[in-house]
Amino acid sequence: TLFTSSGMQPLVPYLLGERHPVGNRLVDSQKCFRSQDIEEVGDNRHTTFFEMLGNWSLGAYFKKEQLRWFFTFVTQEVGLDPQKIFVTVFSGNEKLGIPRDTESVEIWQDVFSELSIEAKVAEDAEIRGMQGARIFYYSEKKNWWSRSGTPEKMPAGEPGGPDSEMFYDFGLGLHIHETSAFKDQPCHVNCDCGRFMEIGNSVFMQYQKQPSGAFKELDQRNVDFGGGLERLLAAAHNDKDVFKTDLFWPIILEIEKASGRSYSEESVQRATRIICDHVKAATFLAADGVYPSNKAQGYFSRRLLRRAIRYADQIGIQSQFIEKVVDVVSQIYLEAYPDISQKKKIIQEAFRQEEDKFRKSLSKGLKEISK
Ligand code: GLY
Repeated sequence: TLFTSSGMQPLVPYLLGERHPVGNRLVDSQKCFRSQDIEEVGDNRHTTFFEMLGNWSLGAYFKKEQLRWFFTFVTQEVGLDPQKIFVTVFSGNEKLGIPRDTESVEIWQDVFSELSIEAKVAEDAEIRGMQGARIFYYSEKKNWWSRSGTPEKMPAGEPGGPDSEMFYDFGLGLHIHETSAFKDQPCHVNCDCGRFMEIGNSVFMQYQKQPSGAFKELDQRNVDFGGGLERLLAAAHNDKDVFKTDLFWPIILEIEKASGRSYSEESVQRATRIICDHVKAATFLAADGVYPSNKAQGYFSRRLLRRAIRYADQIGIQSQFIEKVVDVVSQIYLEAYPDISQKKKIIQEAFRQEEDKFRKSLSKGLKEISK
């Protein structure tokens, strides 16, 4: 593993039973980098770098307590409208011996009924759509969580489990965008039309894969709650575009200044988001000691910066601009991550050299192509 890509990454030994030095109930905010999402960046919600808010039961509390806390957190702390909350649960897999999660369904039904919100349960949403339901069963393709994905992809020894996910309804209408891969399917909470966005999940991390391929119950039943800070913020704004939140918007403004183009122009929006995400991610990597190079983690820093420059070139940013973006990132995170501003000059110098080198190769290459 080259990067921390999820909240559980640094906690695996404790999920497997080792005693954590500060106890069995933890709360954290984990910086995450998902290199595998690099091609997805450009829509309203995907980013390579994000902060995962977590709370963790290491064999302490379980579903009954945690799902209620999850709901209380998003409705009372974050202030989301409970009517706009939809949830999913695991439908079970007989072959793996993992039961259907009827317990979570009962908990969610109680939670919603206390607010007089009808909470019908449905399955086959991929085929039959919403069916007027609020709680949905999905298979392990959607409601199973491990670092490696679905059960068959997990290596022996890896912990994982079914999860319950929460979606926020941006209420943008039921029409599926014509470019969506799901355009021929009915809209449902897990489809890609943009109406719903997952804002968090509670993984019931209670199984470990065995060398035989079977799943054994761990000695302790853990809960791994993960909530994407940027997405929660977007839901709090009731605007599905995470790039319009305070965690990105000042960067977008800086890119607008450099390009002279407005983010609202459809023809530049994707490129602007990619530049914004990539330079921000590279800045966070650098603050943690990863600089552009041809090897291991450094390769991803280089790839992020070069992609950002290529997209910048496309929207008319011809001169050095990355160091200005680094400055804006350091301002956004002055309080939360002061190390960025402390290391700003070194980061800017390294990125300036990278930009200089790559812009020269880019213009040489483009000349060759046009020849
Ligand atoms: N809580 C699991 C994850 O989404 O990282």
